[in-house]
Amino acid sequence: MTAEAIQSDDIPTGTSRQQRYTAVAIALHWAIALLIIGMIAVGWIMEAMPGGPGSPKTAIIQIHKSVGITILLLTIARIIWRIMNPPPAEPPMPKLQSLLASSVHILLYVLMLAMPLTGWIMASAEIGLHDTRYFWTVEMYVPGIPGLPAETREGIAEGFEQVHSNLAWVIIGLLVLHVAGAVKHQFIDKDGLLARMAPGLFGRTAGPVDNGQGAIWAFGAAVAVFAAIAAVSLSTAPSTVAPVTVAEDNQTPASNAPAWAVDYEKSSIIFRSGYMGRPFEGRFSGWTAQIQLDTDATPANANTPVDGYIRVAIPMASVNTGEPYYDENVTQGDWFDVAKYPEAVFEVTGGVFKDSDTQYEATGVLKLKGGEHPVRLPFTLKIEGATATAHAETTLKRMALGVGAGTLTAEKGDAEWVQDDVLVVIDIVATRQ
Ligand code: HEM
Ligand code: HEM
Repeated sequence: MTAEAIQSDDIPTGTSRQQRYTAVAIALHWAIALLIIGMIAVGWIMEAMPGGPGSPKTAIIQIHKSVGITILLLTIARIIWRIMNPPPAEPPMPKLQSLLASSVHILLYVLMLAMPLTGWIMASAEIGLHDTRYFWTVEMYVPGIPGLPAETREGIAEGFEQVHSNLAWVIIGLLVLHVAGAVKHQFIDKDGLLARMAPGLFGRTAGPVDNGQGAIWAFGAAVAVFAAIAAVSLSTAPSTVAPVTVAEDNQTPASNAPAWAVDYEKSSIIFRSGYMGRPFEGRFSGWTAQIQLDTDATPANANTPVDGYIRVAIPMASVNTGEPYYDENVTQGDWFDVAKYPEAVFEVTGGVFKDSDTQYEATGVLKLKGGEHPVRLPFTLKIEGATATAHAETTLKRMALGVGAGTLTAEKGDAEWVQDDVLVVIDIVATRQ
């Protein structure tokens, strides 16, 4: 097309008819622009929101992360598309202005990559209950980061949070320059530049150079990056191998004392802890208890156990906190790792001691996540006829049990934390057999 043909009569005075960007470039420009502006708003809003159980903050952060990763993938596609389809020649303008425009464009591309990358590095390094699941589906971490030591991760998370937060201001500054440029072109230079990026809306254009080519490459690369990172994240995620059956311990009763049949409807095993200063409670279901106890015995002295044996087996995947998000996380690798250790067992190995008619103490081991921990479990026992009601409370230190080792136990900066002390409350109603 010649210059004369472009300068046809039906174009408003002062406006030369520009060739516009390809449809793909235009679609990507506006999709990414809208998403980024929305992300900055959402970023600030969620930053100011209180977290904790019941707060929508958790879901909003997940959406922020997923949309952010989408922006990164779209930007990869956009850059490849641009390399394969150079934009139309720019309208005539002073050299300095042209240089400024190109610099802002290049910096915007850098920010379109840096903004999601810094957020994603921060999210991958953050130690806490939040995972980075792409729209509640696959986990996606920046490869290499989750395997780093907790301290290094904390440092990375804190540093990148600063960078991520500051870059938001850089992109806002660039956007102001960018929009000011577009407005100047539209209303002062009247050269039809806006129409290059928004055909039809701001005047007519001469159409793109051609429809463009390389969509398979551009979008294929974005999909390939997504698949590669999802695959790496999956392979480094906690193993989801078939549950290993816990080797059954010696099942021969260790005691000749009367057996007690547990009424599971009336019995419960509950734990209480705190997440970011707020208390939460979880309960297990489907657990089984084998109890033998001679409640009529009179021990010779305080150091002689009565005839008794107790073994409680808890399927850890049954945990229920009333908050699906916690349940999902607490069964994972760093916490209960139910795929590898489906069951926790408390077994009396040191004997049951009777301090008074209502006060007892069971001494034994807690087998949890492959470890064995000595536990003393004092309990009260009330007997009415053939029915016994037992109540026990004990405080366990989750860190010492290797539960949630990667999560802080106290407030530190913005990092999430889960209290070390976990109160376990056991109530059992049983009838003598
Ligand atoms: C966060 C939001 C935005 C980002 C990241 C962004 C980014 C970009 C980039 C990188 C380019 C260069 C395209 C290329 O040549 O490869 C561009 C072009 C363009 N942008 Fe934006 N943009 C944003 C918002 C806006 C807004 C709000 C407007 C409207 C006022 C706008 C109007 C334009 C126009 C008219 C062009 C074409 C310039 C030309 O013809 O050379 N952009 N944008
Ligand atoms: C273009 C993409 C993105 C933009 C524009 C953006 C913008 C923001 C903004 C403005 C904030 C608030 C910062 C503050 O004032 O402290 C924020 C916070 C945050 N962003 Fe992004 N973000 C983007 C991508 C991502 C991605 C990809 C992730 C993770 C995968 C992410 C994770 C986070 C997290 C975890 C926070 C802190 C939330 C909190 O602790 O309250 N962001 N983001």
